Amino acid sequence: MLITTIDQMHRWSAQQRRDGKQIGVVPTMGYLHNGHCSLIKCASNECDVVVTTIFVNPLQFGVGEDFERYPRDLQRDYTIASDAGTTVVFAPRTDEMYPSNYATFVDVGPIGEKFEGTFRPGHFRGVVTVVAKLFHITQPHLAYFGQKDYQQTLVIAQLIRDLNFDISMVVLPTVREHDGLAMSSRNVYLSPEQRHHATALYRALQAATNAINSGERRSHALAELMTKVIADNDHVRVDYAAAVQAGTLEEVTEFSSGEQAALLVAGRIGPIRLIDNELVTIP
Ligand code: PAJ
Repeated sequence: MLITTIDQMHRWSAQQRRDGKQIGVVPTMGYLHNGHCSLIKCASNECDVVVTTIFVNPLQFGVGEDFERYPRDLQRDYTIASDAGTTVVFAPRTDEMYPSNYATFVDVGPIGEKFEGTFRPGHFRGVVTVVAKLFHITQPHLAYFGQKDYQQTLVIAQLIRDLNFDISMVVLPTVREHDGLAMSSRNVYLSPEQRHHATALYRALQAATNAINSGERRSHALAELMTKVIADNDHVRVDYAAAVQAGTLEEVTEFSSGEQAALLVAGRIGPIRLIDNELVTIP
């Protein structure tokens, strides 16, 4: 079923709750791929009903970013989402979510100011505001997110804690193409040649993972290694490459055994910006 208004979505979710159904939500910006589908499939295994939201949120795009040309195809998404186990696709219009008198925003703390926050000022404020709205509108018991956007999962976990949403968050592993490239709606922007260069991000993460497993503990050495692997490819510019403490994104000089490191990379191929990450437990 397709729902486009907040009023109808509220009424549907309220009825499911009265019927004792567990509601799972999968927030997306559409142009669905197998990464999104793995979230929907997991939600449909764990919940009675699944709401997949499709909304390209203008608030999380900066000036000069790709909001206008972000790929959109609701017909195609509806079929993919339904086949993967979605009960309801919620796809509101922009003015349904942000009427002209809209004025309230949710601010994120320091965790949203690092990494992506530095390169995309205001991005996480937009993400957290729309996710808070989508939680209120869909009234889920469980909400599904991908590790692909690792910093986003931390920011949303903070939102759920701080604003007391009665929602359990589920984070699922990154789904990759056969050569390691993390699936992303933005991959459709890549020409075949750029698509080839894009694997540099994953190769950097692999190199750092291998280094950790061979005994490297120094975060700066891991960061330099990842930067070098990406920069060896002339076509990819590095925005950041860092090894930080998982969960907090705090810097550490040297990791200790048993600690979890978050390897974070972001780069640009022409105007196309890609991010990736890996979590590695220090042996
Ligand atoms: P979008 O980029 O469409 O991603 C929707 C969800 O799918 C996110 O939780 C994201 O982490 C997950 N995802 C994307 N690619 C993935 C992959 N390769 N493997 C596993 N999961 C993947 O993230 C957003 O939209 C927006 O910021 C949103 C949360 C919907 C708020 O507007």
